[in-house]
Amino acid sequence: MVNKAVRVTKANGAVVETQSKPFSASDMDADEVLIKNVAVACNPKDWKLAAYGLFEGIEGNDVAGYVEAVGSDVKDLTKDDGVIALTRAAKADKYGAYQAYTVAPAWTTAKLADSISFEDGATVPLAATTAFVGLFDKLGLPEPSPAGRPSADADKVNLLVWGASSSVGAYVVQLARIAGFNIVAVAGAAQDAVKSLGVEGSKIVDYRADRTTVIANINAAAGAPITHVYDAISTKDTVDTIVSLLSSAPNKGGKLTTLLATAYDDETENQKLQREKGIVYNRTIGSVVHHDKKEFGERWFKLVAKWLGEGKMKPNKVQILEGGLDGVPGGLKLLQENKVSGAKLVARIADTKS
Ligand SMILES: NC(=O)c1ccc[n+]([C@@H]2O[C@H](COP(=O)([O-])OP(=O)(O)OC[C@H]3O[C@@H](n4cnc5c(N)ncnc54)[C@H](OP(=O)(O)O)[C@@H]3O)[C@@H](O)[C@H]2O)c1
Repeated sequence: MVNKAVRVTKANGAVVETQSKPFSASDMDADEVLIKNVAVACNPKDWKLAAYGLFEGIEGNDVAGYVEAVGSDVKDLTKDDGVIALTRAAKADKYGAYQAYTVAPAWTTAKLADSISFEDGATVPLAATTAFVGLFDKLGLPEPSPAGRPSADADKVNLLVWGASSSVGAYVVQLARIAGFNIVAVAGAAQDAVKSLGVEGSKIVDYRADRTTVIANINAAAGAPITHVYDAISTKDTVDTIVSLLSSAPNKGGKLTTLLATAYDDETENQKLQREKGIVYNRTIGSVVHHDKKEFGERWFKLVAKWLGEGKMKPNKVQILEGGLDGVPGGLKLLQENKVSGAKLVARIADTKS
């Protein structure tokens, strides 16, 4: 059995350690499950939280594997079900993905269709959750029906997805397409990945140009005022460009959500942005599904897993890390150096050397 885990600390970064004992059923609460991991995926937060002094411990939140045990309150999952799960972030080692067994909240654990591999499934949890929280909670956009039919006023939404080739952005694009919104996508080297999600080339704008050109190209691609922006990249540069875009003709302000902290998280700046530029800003944090958005999170998490099985959505492109958990430190370094394009880094537990 694999007895390794990847611990991330501020002082040492990501280090593979030997575990004396894996987590077990005795470590779960009544509304949790224990998963025997097959494949786990990397997210930028896995190096960031320790580097910023926010959490040190066994990292990772994207898990795909088999249910090993369920808590007494869990009714819809049983031992040996193939599942994907989003675990609690920055909380405790038992929730870390980078180990052989992980504990996950049952409401963000969903059955994985037989047609989807564990490697593909592992790309889904955090990125897709962040996508649906941003679209349907923070931007407050009209939800499609559970069967995947757009709401009546969906075509009034002109949505800009900045970073459409990123892991989160790829799920934003797919959910927005199902929801029936008009989409303009911003991407760079991985534009083909965005086309493969069904976005026409004429609706994809390259961010690798000066700000004036990018804004002109977005307006030309949209052909109508942008009403909402999902910024899946959220650097100062992307946010400044989007504010400039939304506050100039033909646009008339709009709603903006980002994934990282910005100057507009400050209440005074937020009010000023709304008053002077007509932009309503909110930051998206995917892990709200483990706090005040539990029911919303459960409904959407299980729906996304269902739509994956039905082929309505597809997973991120997978880039396998050599050596399983031993490859995770190198993978997190690639993410830190912005060297991953249009793919999700995935480690297979069985590839880890014993
Ligand atoms: N708030 C939350 O809950 C939450 C959740 C998940 C992630 N995040 C954050 O969201 C960000 C994205 O995460 P991720 O996992 O989706 O990242 P990722 O997949 O690793 O992002 C890589 C992609 O970013 C694209 N990119 C880089 N700079 C860009 C720019 N200026 N404009 C447009 N696209 C650009 C690249 O596109 P090309 O290859 O096409 O050039 C590349 O494909 C990270 O900062 C992460 O920490 C936050």
